Amino acid sequence: MSRKPIIAANWKMNMTPSETSAFLEPFLSTFSEPTSVDIVIAPPFISLPKAAETVTDNPAVALSAQNMSHEASGAFTGEVSAAMLKEVPVEYVILGHSERRSLYGEDDAVINKKVKATLEAGFKPILCIGESLEERDGGQLEAVLTTQLEGSLADITAEQMADVVIAYEPVWAIGTGRTATPEQAQETQAFVRSVLTKLFGDDVAGATRIQYGGSVKPGNAGELIGQPDIDGFLVGGASLDPSSFADIVKAGAAG
Ligand code: PGA
Repeated sequence: MSRKPIIAANWKMNMTPSETSAFLEPFLSTFSEPTSVDIVIAPPFISLPKAAETVTDNPAVALSAQNMSHEASGAFTGEVSAAMLKEVPVEYVILGHSERRSLYGEDDAVINKKVKATLEAGFKPILCIGESLEERDGGQLEAVLTTQLEGSLADITAEQMADVVIAYEPVWAIGTGRTATPEQAQETQAFVRSVLTKLFGDDVAGATRIQYGGSVKPGNAGELIGQPDIDGFLVGGASLDPSSFADIVKAGAAG
């Protein structure tokens, strides 16, 4: 089954509004026509309106938030709601990133509420999963990924899965310069797809896009995208430079 690759820039807590414009102007002139990959930029909340202003009418690039509250509105200091993101607007929302899980205590139950809230609001969640090095070395890889998928996707229907993107990001490869080998990433992502088959059936599993994330760079993007179960990337550090992110997108489009 052919799946359109999706390459997303996760800027994390980088890029002020003015830095966002400075990045996007040259980047958007390179990608002004639809390409064979979906390109997604996820700036911090404060820079999203500036990004939306700059991206307007560019058919090649979509915007994503890096998180969203599952609550609709009210006394939740520091949180951002679906209605707020709709006014930007964004198309995608990254959920369950390992930094949210480990630094801010998000567990699968809360991530599941967020997945439901994003889908109900008409956004496409990019659901992150991944194991620590300790878990991989301790033989827990498959159990950890299964628990994360079952918990985060509880009560999600096969129909709703059409809008869900999974990002497999081994925690030990994030920001460390240590990428999973193409074989390791492929083997793990094939396993992730097999869990999706159990949960939702072959058709959904075959159609769901699974990104790889963790120290993706222009130099390794080509061999990673060549793997059959790698359908794009979630890129942190290397997405902060327009030419390096453009090279990763080009590698994805050529793959
Ligand atoms: P990295 O981050 O590319 O800097 O390793 C990836 C991510 O956390 O999404």
